[in-house]
Amino acid sequence: MAGLKEAASSYWREKQVSHLTGAQWGDEGKGKGVDEAAQFVDVVVRTNGGANAGHTIENEYGEFKNHLMPCGFANPDVLNVIGAHVVVDPIQLITELDDAQERLPSSPQLVISSQAPLVMPWHITRDELREKSKGDASIGTTKRGVGESYSDLALRDGFLVGDLLDSEFAEKFMRVADAQDKYMRLIDGEHLVSEVDLTWKEGSISTLQGEIYTAKKKNYLNPEEELQKYLAAADRLGPLIGNTHVRVREAFDDGKIILGEAGQAALLDLTNGTYPYVTSSHPGVSGFLISTGLGAHEVDRVIGTAKAYMTRVGEGPMPTELQDEMGDYLREKGREYGATTKRPRRTGWFDAVATKYGVQTAGITELMVTKSDILDDLPYIKICVGYEVNGQQFSSMPDFSVSGMENVKPIYKTMKGWQKDTSGIRNFSDFPPEAKEYFGQIEELVDVPISVLSVGPQRDAIVYRNDQ
Ligand code: GDP
Ligand code: IMO
Ligand code: MG
Repeated sequence: MAGLKEAASSYWREKQVSHLTGAQWGDEGKGKGVDEAAQFVDVVVRTNGGANAGHTIENEYGEFKNHLMPCGFANPDVLNVIGAHVVVDPIQLITELDDAQERLPSSPQLVISSQAPLVMPWHITRDELREKSKGDASIGTTKRGVGESYSDLALRDGFLVGDLLDSEFAEKFMRVADAQDKYMRLIDGEHLVSEVDLTWKEGSISTLQGEIYTAKKKNYLNPEEELQKYLAAADRLGPLIGNTHVRVREAFDDGKIILGEAGQAALLDLTNGTYPYVTSSHPGVSGFLISTGLGAHEVDRVIGTAKAYMTRVGEGPMPTELQDEMGDYLREKGREYGATTKRPRRTGWFDAVATKYGVQTAGITELMVTKSDILDDLPYIKICVGYEVNGQQFSSMPDFSVSGMENVKPIYKTMKGWQKDTSGIRNFSDFPPEAKEYFGQIEELVDVPISVLSVGPQRDAIVYRNDQ
């Protein structure tokens, strides 16, 4: 047995370029994995999403919930990069930077891509208004303005981080804020009232008067105030802005160890997930490539974090969801409440079909399985080995849009629980046989090896398979 530190070092340094992403619907423990890895790697690149992510870390400096700050931040030797495919809310980033500078012995090394889209104040308001206007069809977004920022990027109408350095930033901000005011009214359904307002004759219909008065009075944003915050952010973040493709390439050429840190997860991918109940970016290997500027041939492995059971926050299909006592048990024992929105997460048995699809579509080559300790006390554990659709059985994703998962019935295999405390285990050989069998079943069904296991929220609650 090599010892935990040696096993960890050899695991994280054995490949030059790795990406770490989620294999399911998010919150699998990516933050914990990256914080652990950051003791050994040289560069951590946050690759996608924005402050919708909530990555929890428990290390010697306390508990952190990083939304935008890459989770390599606790090691002063690590270069933390916010890559080009990340949407950056500069106000949120400064909050996290302040917190890190206050609680860590040294300030994190951070560089932010000038090409990354900015989250502007109207994006957050638009996110809230759009969700409200959708009513029962809402996605359950985190309301961090992420999808709105990406949509302006796709329209080629957005602000980029590099624009913070532009001498005409303030002028452009005020011009766009004015146009955005109209857009926000439109999303909010205020336009009809405003049109009526044009022909309004004082006192003509008294019942309408109140509504029109509200429409005229409603201020979605205070652009002057918001601008001042963004100008202060520009001063603070300005020195950290750069061409991160160039910085990552230099590190790569110097033989440095590079690790990607995704936000979200495979089944929330904009294109490959359960659309429209998805996020607006690409958490898999494709997001890593866009964010780093590295080529596909330069990626050595993609580590997928997978929870030993399923969770999902927000709307959308989740075939193994348990709306019963067992579901409540997993939620309470696993402390399954959103790190960003505090919403209770939906819980269910491990879904091997969905996870395998996530693994395949995100380019995942191996798994880090987390939170098996939450199953420690259970006499039995179910695992979804297939789906039944209209009387037909499938052992992998049926040939329909994943949105069709809404209508599948899970087929379960019941396995014996181990009923032992595994949170202190640091060597794979010490796991009870039933736990090893459960992990073996996951490997077989999902069809990739498990190379790391996490058995608690703390940094050192980790087991490496190479440590045997
Ligand atoms: P992320 O978004 O993928 O980084 O995951 P989150 O931080 O949103 O959610 C994972 C939660 O599980 C956090 O509260 C972690 O502290 C916690 N956690 C991570 N790994 C483990 C584990 O192996 N066991 C237990 N009990 N908790 C864990
Ligand atoms: P981490 O990185 C879990 C979900 C939201 C919603 C959908 C769209 O912590 O794993 P968005 O705000 O992105 O437009 O919301 O995606 N979602 C997440 N769920 N973990 C996350 O990030 C998530 N980020 C977004 O709940 O269903
Ligand atoms: Mg999270």
